[in-house]
Amino acid sequence: MSKVDQNGKIPNNVDLSSDKRLQRALEHWLPLYMEWWNDMGPVGFQSKDIYLRTAVSVEAGGWANFDYVKMPDYRWGIFLAPDGDSQRTIGFGDHYGKPTWKEIPGEYRGNLRRIIVTQADTEPASVEQQRYLGSIAPSLYDMRNLFQVNVEEGRHLWAMVYLLFRFFGKDGRDEAEELLSRRSGDEDKPRILNAFNEPCDHWLSFFSFTHFTDRDGKFQLASLAESGFEPLARTCEFMLTEEAHHLFVGETGIDRIIKRSAELTKETDGQAETAGGIPLDMIQRSINYWFSYSLDLFGGEISSNAANFFGEGLKGRFKEPGRYEDHIMKDGIKVIPIVKNGVIVDEEMPYRNTLNEVLREEYIADCERALRKWNRTLEKSGLDTRFKLPNRRFHRAQGIYSDHHFDPEGNLITEDEFRANMHTWMLNTEDNDYLKSIMHPVTEPGKMANWIAPPSRGINGQAVEFEYVRL
Ligand SMILES: [Fe+2]
Ligand SMILES: [Fe+2]
Repeated sequence: MSKVDQNGKIPNNVDLSSDKRLQRALEHWLPLYMEWWNDMGPVGFQSKDIYLRTAVSVEAGGWANFDYVKMPDYRWGIFLAPDGDSQRTIGFGDHYGKPTWKEIPGEYRGNLRRIIVTQADTEPASVEQQRYLGSIAPSLYDMRNLFQVNVEEGRHLWAMVYLLFRFFGKDGRDEAEELLSRRSGDEDKPRILNAFNEPCDHWLSFFSFTHFTDRDGKFQLASLAESGFEPLARTCEFMLTEEAHHLFVGETGIDRIIKRSAELTKETDGQAETAGGIPLDMIQRSINYWFSYSLDLFGGEISSNAANFFGEGLKGRFKEPGRYEDHIMKDGIKVIPIVKNGVIVDEEMPYRNTLNEVLREEYIADCERALRKWNRTLEKSGLDTRFKLPNRRFHRAQGIYSDHHFDPEGNLITEDEFRANMHTWMLNTEDNDYLKSIMHPVTEPGKMANWIAPPSRGINGQAVEFEYVRL
């Protein structure tokens, strides 16, 4: 394994200094990245000391360093998970058992480029979506977590841009430039995937986003970590280490809101709003909204691209080696409920074509697990309300359900019925206005906004009262 170089302009463990051309190209991209960060990164706080984690190594246990850093001084580096001693082999698809590729197989260049660019685009997009949240953070602890997520999404962009520069020549350089020119929510140059163009302008959306949308990232990265293209696999493997914290921020953030909302609901006889809290039904609407947008990120239920990516050894399944026995799945079938003549009927599909759905199901199971935790918080509070995930067919803009309308239980309804009810099912304009109206910055160490409970512990063994951001 090549060792970590912390001294150059770009920290890395890919032996960048031995490839002068590549090093120069990336060093040339660095000021363009910084320009993007200054234009589109977090608004304000750039000159403040923030208690941040920086990846400094890829060794389990000692991979990160915690210290006060000003965001523009963050050391965005390129790190691949260790390659291990033995030759890796491709774990699935038509090349099953053959050695993994260290260079790109020419025939898969187009598909790999598409996979990498799509993943890469989400990283700066989320930073753009979250750029105004610092000034309404409910505590210094939360503000620090927001900025931690932001700088690490920046590093994930570096991780993907390295692959583009290293393996795709001129095309890769052009793509890297495009990644800095698209803008979340922009009408002319939007980000590639829908959920990354949705506004995320208060903290209920931030926590819902890091819970549901970053969690899509976890499953995409995990299936790319199985890739036969070894540099992509090892890049994604390491990104997952950082991603875990983003999911933690989302899942515990919502849990803390639920805890506080339940308290306020009891104190006010069901009128949490009168005490400046977040009503439980609003939380349910945020779940419905972000969950359904995030489901779209997995792509169509029946997809020849998904079949090709698997067959070609480019994108595996979640935990491919341990979870499955048949890694080739040439003739398998999977049943997919489809809409035919106005009713939902089960249809058998070639298994490989349903791989987006296979991954989506892993994701849904993980969301169900978190939901059970949130419901335990409600149960402990003594309230009878429980949260639910909407059916996977609800409010979809991608795939076979997107031409129809469904209620949150998954029943077919008319478009009129959907339109008449959608504001009760999903975060609506009044919700968003209300949420923005109650979010005022709380900047005294250890203090929390009224609408959220404190976390059970601090970051990296520090107290909750620790000064996570020096203002
Ligand atoms: Fe990321
Ligand atoms: Fe993330």
